[in-house]
Amino acid sequence: MNGSNGVVSAIEPIGASEVEPKGIAEEPKPSGRKRQGSVLDAIRRGEPTKATVHPEVLTEDAVIEIEAFSLWYGSSRALFDVSMPISRGKVTALIGPSGCGKSTLLRSVNRLNDLIDGVRVDGRMLLNGAPLYAPHVDVIDLRKRLGMVFQKPNPFPMSIFENVVYPLRIDGVRKKSVLRDACERALRGAALWEEVKDRLAAPALGLSGGQQQRLCIARAIVSDPEVLLLDEPCSALDPIATQRVEELIAEISERYSVLIVTHNMQQAARVSRYTAFMYLGHLVEYGPTEAIFGNPKLRETEQYVTGRFG
Ligand SMILES: Nc1ncnc2c1ncn2[C@@H]1O[C@H](COP(=O)(O)OP(=O)(O)OP(=O)(O)O)[C@@H](O)[C@H]1O
Ligand SMILES: [Mg+2]
Repeated sequence: MNGSNGVVSAIEPIGASEVEPKGIAEEPKPSGRKRQGSVLDAIRRGEPTKATVHPEVLTEDAVIEIEAFSLWYGSSRALFDVSMPISRGKVTALIGPSGCGKSTLLRSVNRLNDLIDGVRVDGRMLLNGAPLYAPHVDVIDLRKRLGMVFQKPNPFPMSIFENVVYPLRIDGVRKKSVLRDACERALRGAALWEEVKDRLAAPALGLSGGQQQRLCIARAIVSDPEVLLLDEPCSALDPIATQRVEELIAEISERYSVLIVTHNMQQAARVSRYTAFMYLGHLVEYGPTEAIFGNPKLRETEQYVTGRFG
């Protein structure tokens, strides 16, 4: 996993990333003064490039540290030396065109990619300072510490109650009162309790799409994970359900660290503190959300967030 694999780094690790002196990111910069030259062209040509990381993200306490992380599906490389800290107790958004590796990066954090034949990784990921890919890591236990919610709500064909407490059941929790309390806490945390408290025994598949997604969030938080990983959690939802889930993310982020993939630029701008822009498996620019959307350092980031490509 670690060590030489004969592949030349396309991006230098974070220590060598292009980190500008503090303060510069906050100064308004006319777009004419943005850095010229196309980083994205260089990435497309396979030339070495550096991620542009705003200094603010490096001053945060990191719950997850991603260090020169690369991933291959067979012979096809999907991530190129990605280095980025994920801030504790904040929402971090991953944005970028389809196929740029957002889901791959998210799934690498809870090692879901391990389940795919032919996947190989290099570099490191740390959760609270402990390497996630070390040989002794109990992957099942790890996944309990990292709640994940997917694009399409995926409730199990069982009752609302059993869906929520499922992770506790497979953990061996049997006591009715413990399960009932945990179910209520998780459903309240997922802003769904009031809507379902009188029909906990009803099938979860009878809920609306937006309710199902909040149910999946309840299931993801019932065992109190350290980090919540959300992969386009609103893309199958209507605007009202999306708004509910966004409000929920804002509430949840007071207690959890959240890493969210979204294609919706307004959503990234609304819900996240930090935003990372990825392209073809590379981290391109990473900084405070208001800087990425309002005053990015790279012209290409500006073009992407304003919908001029991708
Ligand atoms: N299971 C897999 N096997 C082989 N290649 C894969 C697999 N999953 C993803 N890839 C490839 O890895 C690259 C990154 O895919 P990924 O799904 O991470 O992108 P994404 O940024 O999440 O895209 P989208 O926005 O469309 O969800 C793509 O080229 C994709 O085809
Ligand atoms: Mg994806």
